[in-house]
Amino acid sequence: MSNKFYITTPIYYINAKPHIGSAYTTIAADVLARFHRMIGDDTFFLTGTDEHGEKNEAIAKKENIDPQEYSDKMSAEFELTWDSLNISNDNFIRTTNKKHKQAVQKALQYMYDKGYIYKGEHSGLYCPGCEQYKTEKDLDKGLCPDHKTKPKVVSEESYMFKMSAFSNKIKKAIEKDELLITPKSKKKEILSFYKDGLKDISFSRTNTTWGVELPWDKKQVSYVWPDAFLNYLTGLDWSGTAGKAPKMWPANVHLMSKDILRVHATIWPAMLLALDLPLPKELFIHGFFLVDGHKMSKSIGNVISPDELIKKYGVDGSRYLLMSATPFGHDGDISFQKFDEKYNADLANGLGNLVARSLTLTLKLFDAGLKLKKTDDSQEIDKAWKSYSNKLENIEIDKALKMVNEQIQYLDGLITKTKPWELIKTKSAKVEKIMYNILETIYHISLMLLPFMPETSDKILESLGIDPTKEKKKNFKDLTKWGRLSEKAKVKKIDILFPRI
Ligand code: MSP
Repeated sequence: MSNKFYITTPIYYINAKPHIGSAYTTIAADVLARFHRMIGDDTFFLTGTDEHGEKNEAIAKKENIDPQEYSDKMSAEFELTWDSLNISNDNFIRTTNKKHKQAVQKALQYMYDKGYIYKGEHSGLYCPGCEQYKTEKDLDKGLCPDHKTKPKVVSEESYMFKMSAFSNKIKKAIEKDELLITPKSKKKEILSFYKDGLKDISFSRTNTTWGVELPWDKKQVSYVWPDAFLNYLTGLDWSGTAGKAPKMWPANVHLMSKDILRVHATIWPAMLLALDLPLPKELFIHGFFLVDGHKMSKSIGNVISPDELIKKYGVDGSRYLLMSATPFGHDGDISFQKFDEKYNADLANGLGNLVARSLTLTLKLFDAGLKLKKTDDSQEIDKAWKSYSNKLENIEIDKALKMVNEQIQYLDGLITKTKPWELIKTKSAKVEKIMYNILETIYHISLMLLPFMPETSDKILESLGIDPTKEKKKNFKDLTKWGRLSEKAKVKKIDILFPRI
């Protein structure tokens, strides 16, 4: 029986176009979704845009257009960018979508009727960049550490969410890893936040009209976060009924970076408990990119767009470079210089060169009247698949790629050591097995690369005389067995996979 795998990215704010930070999360989720589809899991991958709230409203005002029109334009930018990066999401959810808004209203009404939402008064320090209230402790010299801006003092009549009622239950779930927070350092951080217990929070706004109207008080709109969180359910066609989870729920992984962990580990589980729904299984926190040592920002002018990357390195090149840039789960510094070096080393000289060399050698082999001869070398490849699968199941994305690179280096070494071109000249029968080993290993490498570089993977399979569409319909066990390649493989030359930069 196949397992269920539901993965989400955060839904992105539309106050700016997608950059490589949001692309990073989205490609990573895509890699995991493609891997789970390959191993036969019943997979659903959701991404989308978070369109309400003060911050989005303010930018539409600045551009002098209606917020809905602005949302439509910007949301389309995200969809286009994800298409250009070959992202295989099963749905794209927008919070201004009518069905989403109706479900949010129904859910909030339920929470209100149950007494989990009550009328109160709220005042505090609000950072519109984060769309969150901050405590003095959160600030760095009075400024929001993420946005370097001074939060404004807000005091408003507000509907409050009784988050405090769920504090103990969530804390226990986190402690017992029923709600797993990875990496462990982040789990520790969150548990220390739980020490004093959760406080009730404001769940409605009067200072903006750009949001979902509260059904029982039309003068107020929902705070943007509860509206946003419910995307994880409405993206699965949930209509807002408490206690009734959609088939793919709970999420196996909510992928994100550290900037939004705290809200995901507090507000979101509390809302789910209030709605009688199961908690997600895992919050996975990946690292944060700095560019040339600085946080990407419009004012510094160091924002890298996915388009720029694609122009320079191609779609698969960009996907590869982002996924291998830093250990997944750790912050890291990226730069075009580092990307250039890695592209040339791993893709142009590594994978691309290996495939080209091996195809040329095989054609020479055939020209010399020799053939490919099957070997029985299953042990090593079985081990490799096991280790690769383990890594991707544990979301060690860069480690899985590193492992594939080791296979490439191994083959490069084997070619240098055995010098097949000399053996072909002397028509040594030994070379028939050597070349089979090389090509069959390339077949496995191309499949291991499938989640990362889907187009390249197809091109390599085609060069080995295999129809990728048919091949991918096979079940994972058959697909990954040694000896898939026929002795009569119709090998053909292909264009250079990764031209040198
Ligand atoms: N709209 C909220 C999320 C609501 S989810 C219910 C939001 N949006 S956001 O556009 O600000 O996206 C934040 C997320 O984008 C981060 O958690 C991370 O996934 C990704 N990244 C943004 N910049 C990034 C880097 N520089 N590096 C890595 N990831 C980055 O928060």
